[in-house]
Amino acid sequence: MPSSAAYRILDAEIDAAHERDRARAMDPEQLIALVEASGLRGRGGAGFPLGRKLAATRASAAGGSAYVVANAYDADPGSPLARTILLKKPELVIDGLAIAAAAVGATSGYLYLRPDGESAKRAVERALEVARPALGDLQVEVALGPGGFMGGEESALLAVLESRRAMARQRPPYPAQQGLLMRPTLVSSAETLAALPVIVRDGADAFKRVGTETSPGTKLVSVTGAVASPGVYEVAFGVTLGEILDRAGGATGKTFKGLHVGGPTGGILNATRTGVVLDYESLKAAGTHLGSAQIRVITSDVCIVNEAAMLFDYLSKETCGLCVPCRVGTKRVEGILEGIYSDLGRADDLPWLDQLADHLQQFSLCGFGITSASILKTTMREFPDDYRRHIDEKSCPTGTCTPARSRRYETMAQP
Ligand SMILES: Cc1cc2nc3c(=O)[nH]c(=O)nc-3n(C[C@H](O)[C@H](O)[C@H](O)COP(=O)(O)O)c2cc1C
Repeated sequence: MPSSAAYRILDAEIDAAHERDRARAMDPEQLIALVEASGLRGRGGAGFPLGRKLAATRASAAGGSAYVVANAYDADPGSPLARTILLKKPELVIDGLAIAAAAVGATSGYLYLRPDGESAKRAVERALEVARPALGDLQVEVALGPGGFMGGEESALLAVLESRRAMARQRPPYPAQQGLLMRPTLVSSAETLAALPVIVRDGADAFKRVGTETSPGTKLVSVTGAVASPGVYEVAFGVTLGEILDRAGGATGKTFKGLHVGGPTGGILNATRTGVVLDYESLKAAGTHLGSAQIRVITSDVCIVNEAAMLFDYLSKETCGLCVPCRVGTKRVEGILEGIYSDLGRADDLPWLDQLADHLQQFSLCGFGITSASILKTTMREFPDDYRRHIDEKSCPTGTCTPARSRRYETMAQP
């Protein structure tokens, strides 16, 4: 059972530098065991246990050089979670990075940011100046990504740090085995690293007292859309989506129609699903994923087919284009959806979309294409009427769709 969020990153009254020094004085194996015992999982979306990633990076480095990278990129502009931490508690991320470096044996680290976040950059640079004299042989640099959604994906991020384009890479080898400049590299979300000084101070059991058994701790979420108080909130894993909505003052405006959960590649759940619990497994079971932890409130004047088409329009422009399923698949899907909301759709478009979703999920190279399938799977399942009205009755359920901007559908949507 989740308990109240007494375990806060944003309000942590903590001398992070003190905990960093304590961690650095510990035996690395002991430090990794502590993180493993805490159950801390990656906050960047996939939920991989940090302790296991630390252990794998350390083992691959085998006493040689390794790198640590704090992913503070905020690829989803609607979910500025790293920015929120960097503005309020930059020292938690810097000292978390130093703790991770001590665990894996790294002497080089990067704080990787969006190129357009001047205030966060200034905040972290100031905090770094304060911390630097105490970091010993650990060299930490602030690096700026390219902008764009793919810039936050871990293998693309490593390419950027090597002065290449933000393109995904086949895995394995994972960054923990072979990352930056072919050396073992720990890439962790800034939010994940920010939990480390707190775990070192309070211990694994205290950390696990908040959240759920499989998803301990708290999570920052960004509540956006038609809601009274949009913003970034810190909640304990285990709260329901409805409780998060209440915390943000509740849905506003027209009738509440659904929740888009997980950022641009996240699924859209209908209004009956406010009981879904915020944790990695529950969101997956509901057909979506934690992703960028954006929860966007959608109202009844939105046509879901149009919404899905807009998301695929965005994704087809943001894909790095390296793998065919994602490069061609996102464009194809956009074309079919565009055809449906332009009332040119046919009944067999739906099984075809389903097949394309499977294809994206099974064959894409990275999380971008894999997770985008959830937009299709959830919208077709949770809002069948929006699709049916357009396909069978040739009318928009909300009266808002205008015919597609192009006739792309007619040339692209034939099998
Ligand atoms: C398209 C895309 C964008 C991503 N953007 C971010 C990001 O901005 N910040 C982040 O921490 N993780 C992002 N991730 C996840 C990273 O690839 C990686 O899993 C994460 O940084 C690992 O850290 P964690 O284990 O602490 O979650 C993104 C993934 C994808 C597929």
